[in-house]
Amino acid sequence: MSEGYGLLKGKKGIIFGALDDRSIAWRIALACRREGAEFVLSNAPIALRLGVLNALSEETGAAIIPCDVSSDNDVKEMMQKVKEELGGVDFILHAIGMSPNIRKNKPYTEINYKWFQQSLDISAISLHRILHHADEAGILNDGGSVVALSYIGAQRIFSKYSDMNDAKALLESIARNYGSRLAPRGIRVNTVSQAPTKTSAGSGINGFDGMYTFAEKIAPLGNPSADECADYCVTLFSDLTRKVTMQNLFHDGGFVTNGISEEMIGDLAKLYSEED
Ligand SMILES: NC(=O)c1ccc[n+]([C@@H]2O[C@H](COP(=O)([O-])OP(=O)(O)OC[C@H]3O[C@@H](n4cnc5c(N)ncnc54)[C@H](O)[C@@H]3O)[C@@H](O)[C@H]2O)c1
Repeated sequence: MSEGYGLLKGKKGIIFGALDDRSIAWRIALACRREGAEFVLSNAPIALRLGVLNALSEETGAAIIPCDVSSDNDVKEMMQKVKEELGGVDFILHAIGMSPNIRKNKPYTEINYKWFQQSLDISAISLHRILHHADEAGILNDGGSVVALSYIGAQRIFSKYSDMNDAKALLESIARNYGSRLAPRGIRVNTVSQAPTKTSAGSGINGFDGMYTFAEKIAPLGNPSADECADYCVTLFSDLTRKVTMQNLFHDGGFVTNGISEEMIGDLAKLYSEED
């Protein structure tokens, strides 16, 4: 592991959502370890079955605490275990997303409402549940930092992202609302809106390759990798960003601000002149 800057020395945290070594949470865990943090890893029991997370646990020295974030009991019990393991926590990463409607290819106008509720519950309301139970267990340290990963579908319509567009809008709203409640204790709550990234959840979206290439061609800096997202999240967990809260922060190589790129103008001009 390369040497870091010691930005998270002495800090303790919880990292939700590492599934395999492509997961953004996996890369964030490695970056947090590099920066000197101590943390626990958590994922749904079903995701832990294959045992892949054990490798990350061994590499980082982090304990694994199973938790289905859509279960009130699971989250409540988990926070007691975190208390035994770490005492208090200075940072929490929420890197959790799942839509049964996307998985089963349901068009947005035909979605199954039970699944819609599951998408919202797992991908967004879980942030509220996690913060509530962490606070109730008395483990949220003053001056801490919470980051949840989001996507630009919260603001702009990406048709293939279906009900996850709605879930991300709710996630960002919960971050703002909870952030205002925790701010008096110096605890920040932000969302990082990451560009398309080749992970298990990302690649599971029909049309993902097209979305990835489109973003890559429009963003002046190109799409950021999961490791680059990890470096950005480290700064948000560190003491260098103590007055940043209730924000949705775009980590997308400039995609959100750029209308079109020179490269895309060239590509389109060529494509349409060939068609004439
Ligand atoms: N990959 C992308 O293109 C991209 C872009 C922007 C934002 N994001 C967001 O980043 C976050 C991490 O996703 P990723 O791309 O690293 O994919 P990933 O598949 O590696 O991570 C998603 C995680 O959510 C977990 N999860 C699902 N249901 C759960 C439940 N009930 N309880 C606990 N955990 C559960 C999965 O087990 C998995 O670890 C998600 O919020 C995703 O929406 C991803």
